[in-house]
Amino acid sequence: MGVRLGRVAWACPAVLLLLLQLAGASHVVYETSLLETEAAAATVPASIFELSTGYHFRPQKNWINDPNAPLYYKGWYHLFFQYNPKGAVWGNIVWAHSVSRDLINWVALETALAPSIDADKYGCWSGSATIMPDGTPVIMYTGVSRPDVNYEVQNVAFPKNSSDPLLREWVKPAHNPVIVPEGGINATQFRDPTTAWYADGHWRILVGALSGASRGVAYVYRSRDFRRWTRVRKPLHSAPTGMWECPDFYPVTVDGKESGVDTSVVSSSRVKHVLKNSLDLRRYDYYTVGTYDRLKERYVPDNPAGDKHHLRYDYGNFYASKTFYDPSKRRRILWGWANESDTAVDDVAKGWAGIQAIPRKVWLDPSGRQLMQWPVEEVEALRGKKPVSLKDRVVKRGEHVEVTGLQTAQADVEVSFEVPSLEGAEALDPALANDAQKLCGVKGADVEGGVGPFGLWVLASSKLEERTAVFFRVFKAAGNVNSTKPLVLMCSDPTKASLNKNLYHPTFAGFVDIDMAKGKISLRSLIDRSVVESFGAGGRTCILSRVYPSLAIGRNAHLHVFNNGKADIKVSRLTAWEMKKPALMNGA
Ligand code: FRU
Repeated sequence: MGVRLGRVAWACPAVLLLLLQLAGASHVVYETSLLETEAAAATVPASIFELSTGYHFRPQKNWINDPNAPLYYKGWYHLFFQYNPKGAVWGNIVWAHSVSRDLINWVALETALAPSIDADKYGCWSGSATIMPDGTPVIMYTGVSRPDVNYEVQNVAFPKNSSDPLLREWVKPAHNPVIVPEGGINATQFRDPTTAWYADGHWRILVGALSGASRGVAYVYRSRDFRRWTRVRKPLHSAPTGMWECPDFYPVTVDGKESGVDTSVVSSSRVKHVLKNSLDLRRYDYYTVGTYDRLKERYVPDNPAGDKHHLRYDYGNFYASKTFYDPSKRRRILWGWANESDTAVDDVAKGWAGIQAIPRKVWLDPSGRQLMQWPVEEVEALRGKKPVSLKDRVVKRGEHVEVTGLQTAQADVEVSFEVPSLEGAEALDPALANDAQKLCGVKGADVEGGVGPFGLWVLASSKLEERTAVFFRVFKAAGNVNSTKPLVLMCSDPTKASLNKNLYHPTFAGFVDIDMAKGKISLRSLIDRSVVESFGAGGRTCILSRVYPSLAIGRNAHLHVFNNGKADIKVSRLTAWEMKKPALMNGA
């Protein structure tokens, strides 16, 4: 539980005072009412109201964070999520509940879990669902049971009426909590149980924890009946990364196909396992691919450096994610939370904060080294009927080409680039070869390179004062850096995204594990007013960025292809669709 400040209005002395008073507390809870008073006095730019996302999952009002217990039941997708029913800042956390037939249109139902028993009196925090052998789901979640410290226990809840496909009511049995932090566990850093998997007569779950000052840990608990749980002495895995929030652990098939499998598939010849942790200290989700030994209850990442050189689901704003197996389409789907990066005062003024990223299908890349991700196919139903296309268009050094004929504030853009020659690619500073983010900070979208930067300017104002660049840049293969292939960097550079300089606009970047010798790379960007969610090279590297333009709004948002590299590149094909709003978005 890090400090959930986002970008608090530093301009506002009372808020600053509040923060100072709270400094030192490991868990800062907003004073909603104070912030609201402050917000009333503050002048917020009128534009923020036009930046409300159109097709990303969000509440009609108030704060949301982690996706919880996503599941599919009797023809309905269910998404629960951390929610503050009283305001647009973190606090008073309950489990809100929405349902959908298609992952696009969502209907908000009654709150599923709210504090009501001793074991969750001070908060119903994150957790997961497991489908029992009879087909009904059970939820396990973290309850905060003492006010003085965040004393965290694990509870279960069952559907009151399993014949209701909407699973409206949930019952907490009297035997809660089912797991308490015993045996030297740090009770204030012990939370977010995973979906359980079943093998050899036992259910197993993981609970995220912090051991000592800095060790992130995934403890395994086992049970025969989902009621009495015993901790396995040694954790499944641990690493010196700080607290592991929201662990996720699941199998992916090694057959090179994109289909997913149920969490209980453990046969080692068919699958590899993925362990994901949300790093509280750094606020991102990293994962490793490895092998699960169910007899020893241990997990070993294939890449021994995996806990150090982090592979991330997303190199941008994407946290506390969770996957589930969708039996209706035999795929594994990833949900992740994207916080705001405007100010808390703006959030209170607009009345809501936080979105969920577009759900992504995840599968193992045939190389076995990493996951692939792609927006679920359902999102394509929102594409307008008349896409705009470019074909075989060369973009020369310093040139930019506007894509006209559609509004692009809410759009889906797919583009394939051809890079005719890698001859002129620049050399890579070995000191930055392991740090994509730093590299992109030094070599931003406007710094001319050999091959690249080339890519898209999205949410651009008519005179280009505002624009968010999503792009690639290719570096020469350097024998001394652990690669013999040209190194490809993907960046999202929002440093010019808004004339409003008070906003938090970090540059995000990751490397792309692709062989550029073939001279081709693709990019897809889902643009939705204040979010740009990009998928490089078919989903090898993903970056979600929250941006808040002040001019590039609605009809005034433009889209360009740009090339700030010396070498020409070719757009072999670009297709851009306007995106409709779903008919139903939680009443918003
Ligand atoms: C992650 C997290 C979880 C916790 C929840 C509380 O964002 O801190 O660890 O259960 O949020 O809202």
